[in-house]
Amino acid sequence: MREVQVSGRERQGADAFHRLLYDGEILCFRSMPEMVEIVEQTREHLQAQFHPHDPRQIHLHLEHDVLVDRCAAARREYMRSPIIVRAWQSLFGALGMKPADYGLDRLVIRFHIPESARGDQPAPPGTAMVPFHRDTWGSNLYAQINWWAPVYELAPDRTFAMYPHLWSTPLPNSSADFDIDRTITKRRQGQASRKDMVPQLTDLSLATDPHPVLIAPGEVIAFSSQHAHGGLPNTTDQTRISLETRSICIAHENSGFGAPNVDGQAPQRAPRLFKRMSDGVSLTALLTE
Ligand SMILES: [Fe+2]
Repeated sequence: MREVQVSGRERQGADAFHRLLYDGEILCFRSMPEMVEIVEQTREHLQAQFHPHDPRQIHLHLEHDVLVDRCAAARREYMRSPIIVRAWQSLFGALGMKPADYGLDRLVIRFHIPESARGDQPAPPGTAMVPFHRDTWGSNLYAQINWWAPVYELAPDRTFAMYPHLWSTPLPNSSADFDIDRTITKRRQGQASRKDMVPQLTDLSLATDPHPVLIAPGEVIAFSSQHAHGGLPNTTDQTRISLETRSICIAHENSGFGAPNVDGQAPQRAPRLFKRMSDGVSLTALLTE
């Protein structure tokens, strides 16, 4: 993983760092006051949502069904919060990403409660481990970039993992049968399971040598959505709380500039997941066929 200190010069270099990302680099942006601000605002949001409990300890205080509902509410309120939206826009602005040039997915808080606290209970999306995948298996958009940041401290057994050695390796997967419209409909009805959300690796023995991501709150990593990644079991006594979203440079996607597709077979693209940052217009209307 390459560490990036953002200076004035790099703030103008969105094209330059996107080129690195499309080549498979995993970039960690450090020392950005805009990211520190996002973390502070997120912690305030969580403290308000789960008062009087420490957000990292909610699994100790709330019954599982209540916990799932409260996490879902906290996630909904987060992505709608004007303060939060502005904070993320400031981060992308500081990185030189002009709002009229980029689409953005939802702003997501992910809770990963300890496996020991969940037991045999169901694991709705947003509260449990996400299996190994490439985002591009579902989106079919190769200029797509993932952004991921912790809200509280990570640990080797409380984080997610990247598999950079699999960047160029075709992997058997279920993307050919993936229906993004069906997935979005199920998600809106609250009926989507983790397996519905993204195509799956069909030979789990290939998910070897995970590289746990251990960055500090206030830091953020960016990587091509073609990179294989997934959650690791949370065997600690704290709930992991992290942030994620996805961006896409509209001009790059329209010109075919992006990461290579080594194994994605989804029958359609998923521009409807993204809205242009400047005005909220769906990328469905902005991407060429
Ligand atoms: Fe993902």
